[in-house]
Amino acid sequence: MRFRVVIKRVKAGGEPRFDAFDVEADPSESVLDVVERISLEKDRTLAFEHACHHGVCGACGMVINGVERLACITRIGEVAKGGVVVLEPLRGFKVISDLAVDKSRMFGKYKLVTPSTLEIVDGGLQEVQLEKLYDCIECGICYSACPIANTFPEYLGPSLLALISKSGDGKVPAVVDSRAGVWACHAAFECSVRCPVGFKPGESIMRLRRRLLKGELRVEG
Ligand code: SF4
Ligand code: FES
Repeated sequence: MRFRVVIKRVKAGGEPRFDAFDVEADPSESVLDVVERISLEKDRTLAFEHACHHGVCGACGMVINGVERLACITRIGEVAKGGVVVLEPLRGFKVISDLAVDKSRMFGKYKLVTPSTLEIVDGGLQEVQLEKLYDCIECGICYSACPIANTFPEYLGPSLLALISKSGDGKVPAVVDSRAGVWACHAAFECSVRCPVGFKPGESIMRLRRRLLKGELRVEG
């Protein structure tokens, strides 16, 4: 089947523009597979991110026909409208180039996550213990989908607050109980709707609020 893939292009120092590519694709092919073909066969300068190709690494988040999704697990035939698919970078992050965004805004704040929000996983042969964040694949989709996070850069953001809410030590950094923390949330729940792994950040933020109001958490710092 023939699809028209329209991609928002942003290059350093240049004005954003939209480039259209006509491609043959099976409707069951992933959007990421099609983007890779466009890159290989039509435009080698197209920038985008990917790694695992099966919804685990969180690298390939983008806005597909207006909705945040992981491109590797999104079938092109299910999202095309009239055979057209428009791809844009995630909102709320600085664009590095085309569909690749700089997520340091999110990662930079992860230092607020205490060790108790990490789970210890067996390091295997080397017999070392590694730490990995609970569940969240750090894709940034919740920041892009959230009407506050993508317009208010100081906001800690859905995934970070959700991770902090997993902490079992009864303590939260003071910024969590501030205008940049849980009180910025307008309860749109777009983060929970769009999160590809069902982490439900919105519900976690509401839980943090309730616990703060009941005095169940110690605010520190
Ligand atoms: S909470 Fe969900 S949407 Fe947000 S970064 Fe983590 S996995 Fe992605
Ligand atoms: S490439 Fe890893 S989640 Fe899509």
